[in-house]
Amino acid sequence: MALLEILKFPDPRLREVSQPIQEFNSDLEKNAKDMLETMYKAHGIGLAAPQVGLLKRLLVIDTRSQDEKGRRYQYDEMTSLEIEIQQPLIICNPEIVDRRGKITFDEGCLSVPSFYETVERSEFIELKYFDLKGKEQSLKVDGLLSICIQHEIDHLEGTLFIDRLSFIKSNKIKNQIKKNGYSKRENESEDQDSSPRKKDRI
Ligand code: CO
Repeated sequence: MALLEILKFPDPRLREVSQPIQEFNSDLEKNAKDMLETMYKAHGIGLAAPQVGLLKRLLVIDTRSQDEKGRRYQYDEMTSLEIEIQQPLIICNPEIVDRRGKITFDEGCLSVPSFYETVERSEFIELKYFDLKGKEQSLKVDGLLSICIQHEIDHLEGTLFIDRLSFIKSNKIKNQIKKNGYSKRENESEDQDSSPRKKDRI
């Protein structure tokens, strides 16, 4: 396994539309394993392939909570639908086939580190996708896992959560990053990482 570099806004590769996976082979398995390792190392709960420069419709996700020592456990604050779904999830060629309700959440992103803003998403989704073996799967979920899947699918279309804010707020953040980068704020966020209530980065 290998750690991959996570691209950050305004890297133009984050704006590309990713291509459907057609071959379910050992290269794809390796991509998924490397992405999971990279996501866990960065304390993320989801990662899309374009975030590591691979323009494939591939996502890895693990929204299970962590205890104070950073160990993952399964049943804290998860909805009954989330608990039923085995994680980590590796999702190829996802397609949302049904969505209901609205939910807001303070989202962050490994490609926009240290920024958190409230984004509205669908509360419940039904997803069709393919697993690593190329077998068609489906799931129905709400809660954080639903939010995370929607955030990651946005990455496959070249969309970031900061595009989903008001025009003024979105431009303010983008200009701030283009002008100052992330260095100062990232140090601040590392301090937050040591606290048990750190926010999720997807
Ligand atoms: Co993200």
